Amino acid sequence: MKVLVATDKPFAKVAVDGIRKEIEAAGYELVLLEKYGEKAKLLEAVKDANAVIIRSDIIDAEVLDAAKELKIVVRAGAGYDNVELEAATAHNVCVMNTPGQNSNAVAELAFGLMVMAVRNMYNGTSGMELMGKKLGIHAYGNVGRNVARIAKGFGMEIYAFDAFCPKEVIEKDGVKAVGSAEELYSTCDVVSLHIPATVETKNSINYALVNKMPKGGLLVNTARKEVINEAELIQLMEERADLKYMTDIMPAAHETFAAKFAGRYFSTPKKMGAQTAEANINAGIAAAKQIVGFLKDGCEKFRVNKK
Ligand code: 3PG
Repeated sequence: MKVLVATDKPFAKVAVDGIRKEIEAAGYELVLLEKYGEKAKLLEAVKDANAVIIRSDIIDAEVLDAAKELKIVVRAGAGYDNVELEAATAHNVCVMNTPGQNSNAVAELAFGLMVMAVRNMYNGTSGMELMGKKLGIHAYGNVGRNVARIAKGFGMEIYAFDAFCPKEVIEKDGVKAVGSAEELYSTCDVVSLHIPATVETKNSINYALVNKMPKGGLLVNTARKEVINEAELIQLMEERADLKYMTDIMPAAHETFAAKFAGRYFSTPKKMGAQTAEANINAGIAAAKQIVGFLKDGCEKFRVNKK
């Protein structure tokens, strides 16, 4: 059995070593394709792979067509919007993710972006503190929970909205559950986004919603760029000079944001929320174990596509 690790954005070496150990202990072969850049290299590498571990790498119908021996794809991470699930099902390929494995890393980066924004991008002028500010967590999944845990240490007042998470689950963490996204944005000084990119959420963070934020509002995005309606956010930030936007996922309109909103907009150059040795080890080794469990025992825990 051949297990391909196809990561355009590579894992830390220590994580690759751990993945290799798991795969070889099961008697399988590990093949590494890193920083491949062009899709053609991925198409070539998947030809004889039985299993693939990816990050944000795109697995579409073309890749699945090329991967004649493929049985399983594991997205080492949370969001699997980069995999065409229906095509995978049609190709009889099982798709899994590794929920929770990189969530602390992403949550910590959200705070890195928050501190940078409230300290005026470290430009030497007098900024503000997070203590006592109202934080809104938009979606209370694994990352959202970690954000809440860290926010307590900062002394923030914490609110959350999640259409799919029961109020009691949120409130047992000492977080105030609000009834709608609108209420969350009108209440909070800082909103941290943790929604996945789905048909329902794409473009949903729009003018009307963000405009509900109080004066000086800060929007932090460590989720997906697709959830932001970029044209509307640009229009709103033009009209409201008090708003700030910090993101770990470079917008399509990055040049426009950077040119128009210097001092109140920042994007990391490459999505790096999950880019820590710890997160790479957790997610990468979980992915390797899930592959071994699937190939040896047919275990489908964490499967995300239909059969
Ligand atoms: C995830 O969905 O797990 C995060 O967005 C991390 O993505 P990455 O593995 O591409 O850094």
